[in-house]
Amino acid sequence: MKVVVVGATGTIGSAIVEELERRHDVVRVGNTRGQINVDLASHESIEALFAQVGPFDALVSAAGEAKFAPLEKLTNDDFLLGFSNKLLGQINLVRLGMLTARDGGSFTLTSGVLASEPMPGSSAISPVNAGVEGFVRASALELTRGMRINVVSPPWVSETLTAMGMDPSGGMPAKRLATVYAGCLEGKQNGQVIDARKAAR
Ligand SMILES: NC(=O)c1ccc[n+]([C@@H]2O[C@H](COP(=O)([O-])OP(=O)(O)OC[C@H]3O[C@@H](n4cnc5c(N)ncnc54)[C@H](OP(=O)(O)O)[C@@H]3O)[C@@H](O)[C@H]2O)c1
Repeated sequence: MKVVVVGATGTIGSAIVEELERRHDVVRVGNTRGQINVDLASHESIEALFAQVGPFDALVSAAGEAKFAPLEKLTNDDFLLGFSNKLLGQINLVRLGMLTARDGGSFTLTSGVLASEPMPGSSAISPVNAGVEGFVRASALELTRGMRINVVSPPWVSETLTAMGMDPSGGMPAKRLATVYAGCLEGKQNGQVIDARKAAR
């Protein structure tokens, strides 16, 4: 399959690329790095991405920014960052990508456990993750030509916890998480919110 990985240069995305490259033709998309660059916050940039990529069989998104900070410190712009980037950006990957995806093509997006398991500091992230999950459930009802869409909800990733100076033992290694994304595009499910802690191989 020709698989477009958005966020291919990131902690999660680079592990997904490593997992998928063993059996698929992967197009690595980043913001400043990778084979092709895109800005999720710009629908023109996403249109240009698909014009460059051409027909494809699957798209995986492991990208999207949102601000983690105490509620009293969050500004209007902090909320807009997550809405325009991680939420609308991933919606536009599907809305614009479905025009050039091949019959039976699949989309796999990323949310996060903060959607349903919030913590202090996640007021701007939790609604974004929940919004991505709502979009996936709804759009799955309307995709045509056998196309599918799912979203992976990762827990904290071990490598991210290490980078933050925290104990990585409670996180999931990116390599293990990557198998959950592979299962989505290689499987048959549609409209599912996949809790990576339950689905990891
Ligand atoms: N890591 C975790 O513990 C964790 C847990 C739950 C959910 N998540 C979610 O998983 C996603 C990926 O997380 P990560 O930790 O792998 O992130 P990361 O290491 O910071 O990587 C981010 C990736 O997204 C790309 N990117 C950044 N800004 C972009 C933009 N405006 N448009 C398009 N691409 C952009 C980066 O490209 P460049 O390298 O070219 O800049 C990079 O490939 C995020 O949405 C995050 O909220 C992460």
